[in-house]
Amino acid sequence: MSEEATATAQELFDAIGAGYDEAFGRPPVVVAAVRDLLATLPPESRVLDIGSGTGRPVAADLTAAGHHVTGLDVSGEMIRIAREQVPAAEFRHVDVREWESAPASWDAVCAFFSFLQLSRAETGTVLGKIARWLKPGGQLALITVPADIEDVPLDFLGHAVRLTSFTPDDLERRVRAAGFEVTGTRSEIFEPGKPGAEAEEHLLITARKP
Ligand SMILES: C[S@@+](CC[C@H](N)C(=O)[O-])C[C@H]1O[C@@H](n2cnc3c(N)ncnc32)[C@H](O)[C@@H]1O
Repeated sequence: MSEEATATAQELFDAIGAGYDEAFGRPPVVVAAVRDLLATLPPESRVLDIGSGTGRPVAADLTAAGHHVTGLDVSGEMIRIAREQVPAAEFRHVDVREWESAPASWDAVCAFFSFLQLSRAETGTVLGKIARWLKPGGQLALITVPADIEDVPLDFLGHAVRLTSFTPDDLERRVRAAGFEVTGTRSEIFEPGKPGAEAEEHLLITARKP
């Protein structure tokens, strides 16, 4: 382990706040995932957004379409921004690792870039919880930056962090191991609009609880 001080997700996103949207905006893979949800969700679906960030675009677009969205985020600053920007959604300031929900109570769960500061074992545990929380037939939309890295020190928008991710095959295998049928994948290289943010691959895995 390096001795360098690195930011927890809470510290990182409390510091970045609205700067996240300035750097990343609406990446094409996120836009595609939201469009797919809007096309397939039954009316007035219950949607859980894990790591809801600024509330845009997931909570904003899905509530505008009449769905009931609950966002979870470990960053108090992100929760503050999301509540201000998307008053029609509900936001909870929690760490998903410590949060529980009633089983079979959600039509869809989104987790866009929210597992990068979880260990691999924690990601597996959270995927298992999502499988329990979804209704049968419910959808999972998972987006990440795929990479074979585990607790690796990196710079993210000028902040020192330690990140963990998976190769596409490994993540797909873990989604299946949690009890899902994988229904699709999509990958694209994204160029953030802010200096200091490097081009990165975005991977969407969509899955269904049988
Ligand atoms: C990279 S941002 C992405 C935000 C949003 N999903 C999007 O795509 O625009 C990741 C978000 O996940 C949140 N997050 C990270 N770890 C979390 C955890 N253990 N529990 C809840 N939220 C977490 C961060 O605070 C941050 O707001």
